Order: sequence, then structure tokens, then C-alpha cells
Amino acid sequence: MSGSTLPIVKVRMPPADRLMPRLAEVLYSGMLAEGEYVYEFERRFAEHFGLPNVLGFSSGTGALHVALLSCGIRAGDEVITTSMTAEPTNTTVLQVGATPIFADVSPDDGNLDPAAVESSITPRTRAILVVHYAGYPAPVAALREIADRHGIALIEDCAHALGARYADQAIGTFGDAAIFSFQAIKHMTTVDGGALVLRDPERMREARKLRWFGLEKGVPRTAVDITQAGFKYNMTNVAGLIGLLQLDDIDEAIGRHKANGRFFDDELATTPGLSVVPISPESMPSYWIYTLLSDDSDDVERILAGIGVAASKLHRPNHLHSVFAPYRRSMPGLETFYRRLVHIPCGWWIGDDDRANIVHALRRG
Ligand SMILES: Cc1ncc(COP(=O)(O)O)c(C=O)c1O
Repeated sequence: MSGSTLPIVKVRMPPADRLMPRLAEVLYSGMLAEGEYVYEFERRFAEHFGLPNVLGFSSGTGALHVALLSCGIRAGDEVITTSMTAEPTNTTVLQVGATPIFADVSPDDGNLDPAAVESSITPRTRAILVVHYAGYPAPVAALREIADRHGIALIEDCAHALGARYADQAIGTFGDAAIFSFQAIKHMTTVDGGALVLRDPERMREARKLRWFGLEKGVPRTAVDITQAGFKYNMTNVAGLIGLLQLDDIDEAIGRHKANGRFFDDELATTPGLSVVPISPESMPSYWIYTLLSDDSDDVERILAGIGVAASKLHRPNHLHSVFAPYRRSMPGLETFYRRLVHIPCGWWIGDDDRANIVHALRRG
């Protein structure tokens, strides 16, 4: 292993000789904004990951904003959500004027606990917003069942979980809506970008309009009529092309995340002082970042720093931010999880020697 630090997250770009000629083609095509590259990307992304009805966005955050609106979430509604996530999961809930209700998570994997979700339902609940935290699938079949029984929407935030599966079904196919993020350091990137997945094809027309000011594409600009104010959330052809090139070897990249994740699951499960996330038979994580649990997470960070490997908690539970202070609730599962949490790198840039060295250092203590 080299002396430089192995990061927890890393940008993956196609090699310059593959990327640059294609990029020049788009940059000088005179067609920079949303166009054929975006539509081709939407088709191939949907096909590749077995997802229905995909729309490209300028970010996962924009996609999540429109997902909430597409599911009918409005000011005053309650959305049951998780605090153990990146902030955009919940800033978008505030953005539509809804109230985030933080349900507790499992201390084992940081994902929403269905029992805690169920007991948080009130007459004002309109949706469950679930995150597959760090790439480990949440118990999404149980959440789907709760949503159906209460007549509320299920929205999946799959920003960490591209390529993960649950009960042999692609993550992103359980919700009424789902989103993915192609921000710089995710499994795949379009520099910045996202995808919205809608279960109901009938909702696509409105979502397309919300993506672009409320305007309908294809109707002459002098005749088009905005009936609901939309946003500037469209994906560009430049991003679409980068996404298409990333799809060429995405299985290889995600495969490496998974292989490294399973290696750590096997090798670290029995290491004294450490626990790994229990993986249920239905669950196939895509291990965006590896979740390790330790009663002394600082010690894990120190040990790995000693061999040039980054490790950290990476996220801040959202309820700790002032903006979410009014929504704080008791969450013992989250407290335990976050105290013990330390993420270590397991992505495509971690080679066989790297992962063996990580295990060796952690076993040695
Ligand atoms: C869990 C989660 N949800 C949503 C987002 C928003 O995605 P983006 O950065 O593409 O807007 C991110 C990424 O930052 C994320 O990690």
C-alpha cells in the first residue's frame, strides 16, 4: 500500500482517451442542454438496472424534490423519514413545506426500523421516505406493506445504493418514487446529476414539466402554458454523455464494491471489538461505503490512519442540525448506531492488497 491516504470515497471517470473525444463531440455540437444524450442515458440506465420510467435530473436533490411533489406531498403533510442520512434527504422535505418525522433506525445498519415507522404514523402522514444507508438495503418490503396498509406513499432515496437488490428485486422498484444521485463521489457520476424513477407512468408528464419550469417540451414556446411553477432541474447533454460512458463499465465498478464489502463481512465479523452489518438472505448491498461498528470508533480511525487509510463517520445525523431541531425525537437505535459507526473504504479503488492490509491492521489492533 502506498504512503498516501486511501480515501473513503473517490471520483470515477472514464480514461481521458475514451472520454475526451466524445466530450468534444457534445461540447461543440451546439446542443448542450437537455437533448438526445439525456434521453439515451435515461433509456440505458432504466434498462441496465431494471427500473421503470426514469427521468434524468441535474441532481439527486432535484429528483427528490420532484419525487415528493409527484407523490402529492404538500405543506403541512408529515413525512416519516430517517435522520441517519445525508442532509438533502430531509432538506427537500422542508422544501415542500412538509414536516419530517424522524423514526428510529436499527442499531445494526442505520436503516429505518419498520416498527418505529409504524408507530410514527398519524392522520397527517402522507409518505415514508426510506434511505438505503451506505448502500445496505433497508427492509423495504415491510415498509411497502406498511405504506399500502395505511394508503400512503413510499419514496426510496437510493443515492447510496445503486446496484443493490432486495428480495431479488432492484432497489428503486419498491417505492411509488425513487431517486438516485450521480454526484461526484457516488458509484457513478455525471459530475452532478440524478435520476427520478416513477412507478406510475401517468406521473411522468407532470414530473417532466416540473423538471423544466413547468413548461411542456415540444410545445412551441409562444403557445406553451405553465399551470404549475416548476424548477430548473434538467440534466444536460454533457452530463448525459458522461453517464452513458460510465454505464459501460458500471457492473465492474459495483462488482468491486460488492466483492470488497463481502470480503470485509467475512474477515471482520469475528474480529474482537468489531461488528459488521448482519446481511439478511433477502438483502444484496452495493456497499457504497463499508459500515463497520466498534465500541471505540476513534481507535479504528487511528489504526487505519496509521496505514494510510481514511475512516470516519462521514455523515451527521440530520436532527443534530439547528434547522431540524424542532423535529428531534428520542432515537436510541440511532444513538447506538452512530456512536459505534465508522465507515471504511471498500470501493473500486481498493485492491486485494489494500483490503488485506486493512483487515490485518484491524485484527492486530
Ligand atoms: C442519501 C442522499 N440523498 C440525497 C442526496 C442528494 O444527491 P445530490 O448530491 O445528487 O443532489 C445525497 C447526496 O449527496 C445523498 O447522499
